Amino acid sequence: MNAFSFYNPVKLIFGKEQLQAVKEELPKFGKKVLLVYGGGSIKKNGLYDEVTQVLSEAGLEVFELAGVEPNPRISTARKGIEICKKEGIDMLLAVGGGSVIDCTKLIACGAKYDGDAWDLVSRKAQPQEALPFGTVLTIAATGSEMNAGSVITNEETQEKYGWGSPLSFPQFSILDPTYTLSVPENHTVYGIVDMMSHIFEQYFNDATSTPVQDRMCEGVLKAVIETAPKLMGDLGSYEHRETIMFAGTMALNKFLEMGYRGDWGSHNIEHAVSAVYDIPHAGGLAILFPQWMRHNVKVNPTRFAQMAVRVFDVNPEGKSENDVANEGIDRLVAFWTSLGAPTQLAYYDIDNSKIDAMVEKAMVYGEFGNFAKLKSEDVKEILQASL
Ligand code: NZQ
Ligand code: ZN
Repeated sequence: MNAFSFYNPVKLIFGKEQLQAVKEELPKFGKKVLLVYGGGSIKKNGLYDEVTQVLSEAGLEVFELAGVEPNPRISTARKGIEICKKEGIDMLLAVGGGSVIDCTKLIACGAKYDGDAWDLVSRKAQPQEALPFGTVLTIAATGSEMNAGSVITNEETQEKYGWGSPLSFPQFSILDPTYTLSVPENHTVYGIVDMMSHIFEQYFNDATSTPVQDRMCEGVLKAVIETAPKLMGDLGSYEHRETIMFAGTMALNKFLEMGYRGDWGSHNIEHAVSAVYDIPHAGGLAILFPQWMRHNVKVNPTRFAQMAVRVFDVNPEGKSENDVANEGIDRLVAFWTSLGAPTQLAYYDIDNSKIDAMVEKAMVYGEFGNFAKLKSEDVKEILQASL
């Protein structure tokens, strides 16, 4: 195992009708709250009315930032920061998915920073202070509700980078699976692919002797693999939504990564792709991650074979380790395809015309990946194989 220190201060409030907890949690931080949400799904499913009711019962003065885009943009975060500075906002409440939460994280830190918020994303500056914020999660996918990470797009320069700070953890997150019942089929699939990808990013790492972490990863993956097809057959099932919601949070609250240093190379490549093409994050992962696996299976076939046998029930008898490893990758692709995930970038009308631009964006901080160090040639090969 690698040496590690672990810190996660997020208060997780999970289950039916837990929205009422907002009344207890938010007023601790002041009077003026900025409510941040996306393109309108919370108005359609009634959550907006419930949230505004609860905020009014809590006696809070409410300001709003609506319209946070999927792949949230720096210009939207800047608008939120301006409201915070002008109105003297005390705290924020994000109601939405990873995009809304990530944007809220930047607003919270940017509101206490004198320069331009892109400095925080591009790592030119580190946040020194932040407004407190809570979240009400509406889609199971990123784990942003219980981590400090945030991914922001600069639409002018076509850059998309992850950043984070100990100051960008939510104070609390309310997870009522009821609010995910309205997530449409495609975004339900993307969420499942994203959470599985987060586990793979951690599972393929540079540590040895990690049997507890390995079994935890494999266990969460198994539960997702068992539940996902049932959920796709019954999108209105509270029980299946609940399992998937909990899995999404566990997949990226960094519990699974204790003692590991995850790879995160596929995410880096995907962020470069969606910076240029604005595609859904996990639509990109469904295509790129298997290609990353095929490219890197030779680095540690034993690891891939372990995943194949334990997670995808590949029978290893009479087969070479390489064959078992590759069969595991084939099963993963078959599984994601069966849910309806794409397998080629052509699905999003992406051809080879901007490959060099994507490679350049992926390489901005130099070679990357902790399981396999990728150079620009590797990234190019993975992208070409994904077309
Ligand atoms: O904008 P609205 O109208 O709310 O619609 C959203 C959006 O169109 C819709 N939606 C969300 N909840 C819904 C719903 N529709 C109906 N009913 C509901 N209950 O779903 C669409 C996608 O929402 P989004 O927030 O973009 O999805 P997700 O949670 O997958 O977040 C994706 C973003 O998170 C970043 C990605 O790069 C991407 O920008 N990531 C953040 C991470 C983190 N902070 O830890 C890690 C991830 O790897 C990822 O990179
Ligand atoms: Zn992801």
